[in-house]
Amino acid sequence: MTIKKICCIGAGYVGGPTCSVIALKCPEIIVTVVDKCKERIAQWNSDRLPIYEPGLDDVVEKCRGKNLFFSTDIERAIEEADLIFISVNTPTKTFGHGNGKAADLKYVESAARMIAQIATSNKIVVEKSTVPVRAAESIMNILNANHKPGVEYQILSNPEFLAEGTAINDLINADRVLIGGANTPGGQSAIEELCQVYEHWIPRKNILTTNTWSSELSKLAANAFLAQKISSINALSAICEATGADISEVAVAVGMDKRIGKEFLQASVGFGGSCFKKDILNLVYISECLNLPAVAAYWQQVIDMNEYQKTRFSAGVIESLFNTVTDKKITILGFAFKKNTGDTRESPAIHVAKTLLDEGAILHIYDPKVEESQIIEDLSMDHVPDLKHKVKIYPDAYSATKNTHAIVLCTEWDEFMQLDYERIYSEMTKPAYIFDGRKILQHDRLQKIGFIVQTIGKKLTRSAISRSWGSQSQI
Ligand code: UDX
Ligand code: UDX
Ligand code: ADP
Repeated sequence: MTIKKICCIGAGYVGGPTCSVIALKCPEIIVTVVDKCKERIAQWNSDRLPIYEPGLDDVVEKCRGKNLFFSTDIERAIEEADLIFISVNTPTKTFGHGNGKAADLKYVESAARMIAQIATSNKIVVEKSTVPVRAAESIMNILNANHKPGVEYQILSNPEFLAEGTAINDLINADRVLIGGANTPGGQSAIEELCQVYEHWIPRKNILTTNTWSSELSKLAANAFLAQKISSINALSAICEATGADISEVAVAVGMDKRIGKEFLQASVGFGGSCFKKDILNLVYISECLNLPAVAAYWQQVIDMNEYQKTRFSAGVIESLFNTVTDKKITILGFAFKKNTGDTRESPAIHVAKTLLDEGAILHIYDPKVEESQIIEDLSMDHVPDLKHKVKIYPDAYSATKNTHAIVLCTEWDEFMQLDYERIYSEMTKPAYIFDGRKILQHDRLQKIGFIVQTIGKKLTRSAISRSWGSQSQI
């Protein structure tokens, strides 16, 4: 069988961009992305796509209506497809067994049940969502327990490694594609079919094939390693602030060792995003279930260090502002979890903003891509009933900084590097503070303008009124 029709269940950050690129690179394959959420599909079919991702609009425009379709007719798409990607969300469980750690597989399970109910011909079912190790086995059990006579399924694991903000480039120039499947003739031929899809643009040597469990674990491991690098550099950033070392210099020196590598050594207010925390928690849970407490504790520490960094940064802001921010206006620049995305899932800005709100601050927030309603939803807290009065969203950085005491930069948007800081300074309440949580600004220049500047991983020369928050906080 050669794959002629692909269905993707889940039109989110993973399913949407991935299938758009598959459609672009495989013009003879019909790709249908389905979702149970009508609004989301309507957005995919409109000029305003539901997610902001550089380059995505162009790809969708080239393929939509030709070999790329977005639909809510899940049944038809499943029935017609040779290969089905499951790209639904897998949030961390918030109840019962594994609460707070295990992945909630209810959406994966419901997608599998739907396939079993509908399919009347053989299907290759591919798990794309990040799932716990051995999830493919559960999908297989559901499919086999419910299949129609004569219908055979092959289950593959094909985790997606794209990062938001660079998804299109990551997909087109993937470091590797990983496909895991059963070591049976059927499993191997299904792997081959999927390989042929990717071989339209990925060199064969970059397509790795493994057993299913290795593939599933590799995805969790890759995210755990990446997050571990950030937590390691963030842990060192605290030492830098308490000494005279500069974390940027340390990162360069360490990263030039090719065994370590220079990527992912950018100290920050903390990592965010939908994957890192969730996947590591998943790894911790698996380790606990396998009775490997030392392994669980090792990975848990990567998350704990990230929480520490967010708390340390927020506490530093408050401490510098004379230990009280009650009724002080503070600007938050950037709300997304990283630049070039409108996604706020697990964004460190949420942590910082909530801490400041808890202390009574009034927040002026600007982000180039995050919707106002999303910010309000993220900051909704039971004990802050008058949120609308405490949080104001602005359409640009200049209006957001006017008459505020301090700027807290939480996302590394390029435009924040190009702002007219003289103008901003002249319109702020004095003394005016900048807390650079991403280390992207020119601190010397800002100090010359008159700002009191603090950043991550570097003790800036103290002025009479500023105190080094890094060496003070004992959180
Ligand atoms: C190390 C650093 O590599 C070197 O840069 C520094 O200057 C001194 O410390 P060394 O201890 O001589 O060098 O050897 P290294 O190759 O780093 O190995 C250290 C230990 O780690 C060895 O026991 C080695 O077997 C083990 N190791 C290394 C692994 O178990 N797995 C690996 O992938 C690499
Ligand atoms: C991550 C993985 O990179 C990707 O391979 C996987 O498929 C999904 O999870 P994503 O979460 O989209 O992708 O973005 P990523 O670039 O990894 O950034 C995650 C967080 O780490 C962001 O908050 C980012 O600002 C932060 N980060 C990243 C740092 O603080 N320092 C760094 O050096 C790199
Ligand atoms: P990710 O970042 O993993 O892509 P998203 O939350 O962005 O996660 O997207 C997952 C999508 O999957 C959502 O749009 C959700 O509506 C959709 N979804 C979840 N379960 C099902 C299902 N059983 N059938 C169809 N779509 C589903």
